Amino acid sequence: MNTLTAPAPSGARTAGNYAPVFVEHETTRLAIKGALPRALNGTLFRNGPNPRFPTEDSHWFVGDGMIHAFTLEDGAATYRNRWVRTPKWLAEDAAGRSLFRGFGQTRPGTPAGIDGGVANTNVLLHGGRLLALEEGHLPMALAPDSLATEGYVDFDGTVAGPFTAHPKICPQTGELLFYGYHLGGGFSPVMSHGSIGPDGRTRRFERFEAPFPSMVHDFAATRNHLVFPILPLTGSLVRARTGRPPYAWEPELGSHIGIMRRDGSAADMAWFRGPACYVFHVMNAWEDGSRILVDVMQLDAPPFPLADGSPAFKGPPPRARLCRWTFDLAGGSDRFHQTFLDDLGGEFPRIDDRLSGSANGHGWFAGAGPAAAPGSFDTIAHFDFTTWRRNSHAFAPGSSVSEPVFVPRAADAAEGDGWVLAVVRQPEAEHSELAVFDALQLDDGPLATVTLPARVPAGLHGNWVPA
Ligand SMILES: [Fe+2]
Repeated sequence: MNTLTAPAPSGARTAGNYAPVFVEHETTRLAIKGALPRALNGTLFRNGPNPRFPTEDSHWFVGDGMIHAFTLEDGAATYRNRWVRTPKWLAEDAAGRSLFRGFGQTRPGTPAGIDGGVANTNVLLHGGRLLALEEGHLPMALAPDSLATEGYVDFDGTVAGPFTAHPKICPQTGELLFYGYHLGGGFSPVMSHGSIGPDGRTRRFERFEAPFPSMVHDFAATRNHLVFPILPLTGSLVRARTGRPPYAWEPELGSHIGIMRRDGSAADMAWFRGPACYVFHVMNAWEDGSRILVDVMQLDAPPFPLADGSPAFKGPPPRARLCRWTFDLAGGSDRFHQTFLDDLGGEFPRIDDRLSGSANGHGWFAGAGPAAAPGSFDTIAHFDFTTWRRNSHAFAPGSSVSEPVFVPRAADAAEGDGWVLAVVRQPEAEHSELAVFDALQLDDGPLATVTLPARVPAGLHGNWVPA
């Protein structure tokens, strides 16, 4: 066990289950309520912001990444957590204070030339490497067993600039499909896309220009197409330099969605337009004849201010809801349709990843029941696209639920036949739990609940790696 300390400020994004933890654990067998399925063997890796030196003026999105690894083997569970030792983390640890404000901004006295990446958003295995991802920087490689930080990966110098935290792994080709935004820095509208083969080598890297510089947190990939949502949460260097919001909501710009063939060029991108909306996360996308369908968690407005710094909405932040976008590549119109599928607010949509890019019959997300605190989730929801029904499990009011990750029962199991894993913190609990559900029977409650040695702060994304 490795304990590090730091001053503890008070503020909405540094309190409750957003508060960071300062102990790095390495446990032996953990206590389990119920029984873990014996066939569930592997590790759930999960990433999330956990600032080494929390401050009240830093956005939660820019906290230092901490990896939580939950290893399940033959009915037993162990846990390990480690900060990602980025250049920023090492510099701040040595200085004993926060040096960066985030979004490219430093604090007075910060030495020049320190990379500000936080590697805090997602973690996945590809090409034999465990990669911690954050969209402003290249992937950071970690040792899968020890979680020790190994350094940035630039794929032999073939990939430059920011790299999304939401790449897609194509089940057919094994490629890691990715994009980047703000290439060249300064909130530029230049973007990239590319692919890394299953051997870890770059197959494709191409740049293109978006209609305007936007925060592009996720994209979609079908078997033959890539889909880039350019939504009006804009970045501006001029605003950042004049004390205004670096990122701001400009709904008058509308939504612009770029679609290109995977075997084509961004020069031939088709652009579709629609009313302003914001989407952090895509559930899945697929093709149906000349149509492209994309299921997203859609917000009326993101939790960012207007360009003049005034609030973009009154009252609590809006909730995202499951929404289907439909594009017709042969339709002769540059408009796309948006249809909400569910009325439960939620985020962190996932599918059975073997269906990534193809039509899926099942999806899961973290939901917000009527008693959920603003910005947090207390429910795990399953949406059945064959019956258009939702099945869910609500934890006690005030609980905090993380992204539900699906694990198939076996490599050749039917879609949805398996388990869903999520990290849960019961209200005010000192310890978080790892809850394991039958993926299609959420309302039966957890099959097993692993008591963790500490609280796991509200975090972002992760993935299962089979043993
Ligand atoms: Fe995300």
